[in-house]
Amino acid sequence: MKDFLTLTEMVKRARINLNQHAWDYLIGGAETESALNRNRHGLDSWVFKPRILNDVSEVDATSTLLGQPVRLPVVMPPIGSVQLFEAGGAASVARAAQEFGVLQILSSVCLPDFEALAKEVPGPRIYQLYLMGDKAWLDVQIQRTIDAGYTAFCLTADTQVYSRRERDLLKRFAPPSGRRGGSPAFGTQAKMSWKTVEHIKAKFSIPLIVKGVNVADDARRCVDSGVDIVYVSNHGGRQLDHTRACIDALPEVVAAVGGRVPVWVDGGFMRGADVVKALCLGAAAVGMGRIEGLAMAAGGTPALVRALEIIEHEVKNALALNGISRLAELSPDLVERAGAMSSTHVLGAFPLLDQY
Ligand SMILES: Cc1cc2nc3c(=O)[nH]c(=O)nc-3n(C[C@H](O)[C@H](O)[C@H](O)COP(=O)(O)O)c2cc1C
Repeated sequence: MKDFLTLTEMVKRARINLNQHAWDYLIGGAETESALNRNRHGLDSWVFKPRILNDVSEVDATSTLLGQPVRLPVVMPPIGSVQLFEAGGAASVARAAQEFGVLQILSSVCLPDFEALAKEVPGPRIYQLYLMGDKAWLDVQIQRTIDAGYTAFCLTADTQVYSRRERDLLKRFAPPSGRRGGSPAFGTQAKMSWKTVEHIKAKFSIPLIVKGVNVADDARRCVDSGVDIVYVSNHGGRQLDHTRACIDALPEVVAAVGGRVPVWVDGGFMRGADVVKALCLGAAAVGMGRIEGLAMAAGGTPALVRALEIIEHEVKNALALNGISRLAELSPDLVERAGAMSSTHVLGAFPLLDQY
């Protein structure tokens, strides 16, 4: 895996390894894919305003998330049907996350399931749930999550109905997780409300993450309801089309939360420099979903570890070249929204892809 010197080579390898169905499921978004491409466009629009002549001979990119020391403030977000990209599925992601030293959020619609994974690869981990039953069903699920040793619980709130993903629809392809999306049980997901959040907080003490926040009002309401982490996301442009780029929604959410709880973000983050931009704007952690899937497709656990090593190198380079040696020194003063260049494609972070 040390043969991979760049993420570009890894993405190319993933493309070769995946059939068209799996590739489109991983890379694609909803409807016109505007939200998907805007995530990338938004990230390209933020520029650095670096400081010079600071001693950056020792750069530290480590952090602590949910009380857990991490080598990078990067999380592996939930990926449904991740077993389509590499047979070990979520267990391979878990091994990579552990070996490198980042947190994983396990999807409730992938293999192995949360209890099997906890046995196979014990360790601190977060469990993400879609609501597929009534309140009693939810309570049992959360209790089982706690009993299995999960350290936090993530409710995904941007998927109350399953979106229209045209790449899959055109080919009449439904990934295993997508088939559940069309099932009657998934219908209860549409009934999820603030009452669900309040119920969980009243009954359980496990830290609760709400994923899919986009605007200040909802962020405030999360904090007022006792949510422990506000997670800005548009599901990687896979749910509601035509949303803002997540990096553009981040400052408004960070301001609304006002430091009361950590804010995490994902959506289009493909590079170390992307991660640093979000940290400058006040995020405590960044999810990298497609990178997780692409690295898995490129070579399972070792490839994902290698991807994280490359991202760590990129993060540290971006920090040093910004004149920063510790994450605590990052601030919004280091970035500015300056308008994007020409790239608007989801893989715009890899301009040399076709030449490899
Ligand atoms: C193939 C795929 C499957 C996903 N499945 C889930 C899921 O089961 N639950 C969930 O909350 N989010 C899911 N997401 C969204 C990711 O957790 C994350 O929000 C998104 O990938 C971030 O954007 P990025 O891919 O541009 O990094 C999925 C994303 C992808 C690419």
